Amino acid sequence: AQQRTPIIAGNWKMNFDHLQAIAFVQKLAWSLKDVRHDYNDVEIAVFPPFTDLRSVQTLISADKLSLSLGAQDVSEFESGAYTGDVSAPMLKKLESAYVIVGHSERRAGYSESSELVGRKAAAAQTVGIVPLICVGETAEDLEEHGASAVPVQQLIKALAQLSADAEFIVAYEPVWAIGSGEPATPEQAENVAKALREVVREQKGDDVANATRILYGGSVTSQNIAGFMKQPNVDGALVGGASLKVDEFSRIAQYK
Ligand code: G3P
Repeated sequence: AQQRTPIIAGNWKMNFDHLQAIAFVQKLAWSLKDVRHDYNDVEIAVFPPFTDLRSVQTLISADKLSLSLGAQDVSEFESGAYTGDVSAPMLKKLESAYVIVGHSERRAGYSESSELVGRKAAAAQTVGIVPLICVGETAEDLEEHGASAVPVQQLIKALAQLSADAEFIVAYEPVWAIGSGEPATPEQAENVAKALREVVREQKGDDVANATRILYGGSVTSQNIAGFMKQPNVDGALVGGASLKVDEFSRIAQYK
């Protein structure tokens, strides 16, 4: 992981209205400011709901905060009659550097296929937003096929939709570890991250494979983050529940 800047990303999911978001980011910035010299080369990102993006963007830019901003989903289309959707150009205008695509909650709840996830990632790349492509197996998949088979297939299908040689991030989030309080072990995360990096290598070549950040997500806390970050193929974490508490998220960002 040495040559890749690690990233600690907070996926707020459907939590915080824009006023709560402002209060949270102000507290988070304060908490991180005191220890800035200590959290060396880590990028810290927040992924608020759409309705909060403008407020958080304004705060980041007015106070010049060292925080990156991302959205939680994006339309595969640029504009038009798609009621309820939000496009990549709209997110770009809000200075969203990243967007999550293919979170398991969307795959399960909205039947998103890996092909659609790939098209959303491509739409983001078209406007210079880095997609954070989520993959992961359910408990049944794990039992039936082992840990890496399903995430590997999901990534192969998603990457096939990307034409540009633009940056993307991969997040390995085993569905059974999300919100369960039962994280994968660092070794399990490393094994799948390694397999996913090989997929990137086969499809995009050595340079892209070596540069691509692969994150682990699923019940990450300040107690277990260090074990994940020690793994050579794990370049950060996508944090859900623990990203909603300022002190906890701040401690995660300062992992040792
Ligand atoms: O995207 C992050 C997420 O799905 C993990 O959630 O609550 O297990 O950290 P959590």
